[in-house]
Amino acid sequence: MRGRICLVTGATDGIGWMTARALARDGARVVLVGRNQAKGEMRAAALRAETGNDAVGFERADLAAQGDIRALAGRLAAKLPRLDVLVNNVGAWFHRRIEGPDGIEMTWALNHLGQFLLTGLVLDLLGAAEAGRIVNVASRAHLGPQVSFDDPEGRSRYAGWRAYQQSKLANLLFTYRLAERLDGGRVTANCLHPGFVASRFGHNNTGLPRLVAVVTQRLFAISEEKGAVTSHYLAADEAVAGVSGRYFVKCRPVESSPASRDREAQALLWRMSEEMTGFRYPA
Ligand SMILES: NC(=O)c1ccc[n+]([C@@H]2O[C@H](COP(=O)([O-])OP(=O)(O)OC[C@H]3O[C@@H](n4cnc5c(N)ncnc54)[C@H](OP(=O)(O)O)[C@@H]3O)[C@@H](O)[C@H]2O)c1
Repeated sequence: MRGRICLVTGATDGIGWMTARALARDGARVVLVGRNQAKGEMRAAALRAETGNDAVGFERADLAAQGDIRALAGRLAAKLPRLDVLVNNVGAWFHRRIEGPDGIEMTWALNHLGQFLLTGLVLDLLGAAEAGRIVNVASRAHLGPQVSFDDPEGRSRYAGWRAYQQSKLANLLFTYRLAERLDGGRVTANCLHPGFVASRFGHNNTGLPRLVAVVTQRLFAISEEKGAVTSHYLAADEAVAGVSGRYFVKCRPVESSPASRDREAQALLWRMSEEMTGFRYPA
């Protein structure tokens, strides 16, 4: 990975942090993206010190804020000659309905729309790489629901876990459609389930939901380092060079839900996401 340029979103903690660490250990130039400037700088400095890799830096962006994402993409275009790997890792579960800086429900804004917008805005940089890779961190939680196209933000009725499941299904629908659109080019797109990981996932909630997250993680979850293995594999391993449009669990391609393969839903999601971000992907 020496000489490759990699960007990891939500890289100041959890799975993203461990993914960035693995890529830094490989000798790649790594850009950590997160919302907290002080924490991000501290994390980047820690990685430089631990790995001896000086090419580890931090960029601040609230990835639920479309203005921040556009500004981030602008800085990246000015600073980077290309992007070899984009790991869309950021994601969260919000038990109670809250709206982000753009007035969009947080789960939908952060887990799906942010991923859709950032990817589109850095597509030219990925295209400038010899073989650009897009790695979308989805989840096994995608199994079950459909996307509520009439009310994706849960305005009439919100259930936190269902909103999370819907957003993770959107990660798969987006990845499959994106891979199809990129087919024949040099950029690939895959997605994954990292496993049940003892990260800070769910700790943003309060009361019982938070307690359930903390306790089940302590009892049943794998380490953050293990949780980053499939992300790192898709970002760096030669075995998946040229592989695109697949969903991976434990570094193996597996079948995802029938709902994620629904081509009509993929097309509908694409159109809705273009409308909600005001960003049109090149044809
Ligand atoms: N943990 C699991 O069991 C599990 C299972 C399946 C899928 N996943 C997926 O794995 C991904 C990573 O989750 P995780 O478990 O590592 O979660 P985590 O420990 O909560 O880490 C989330 C990371 O995202 C950052 N972040 C949160 N909101 C942000 C925002 N608005 N803008 C920029 N950065 C933001 C956090 O920053 P701070 O450091 O500032 O908090 C942190 O670096 C998510 O997509 C999640 O859906 C996790």
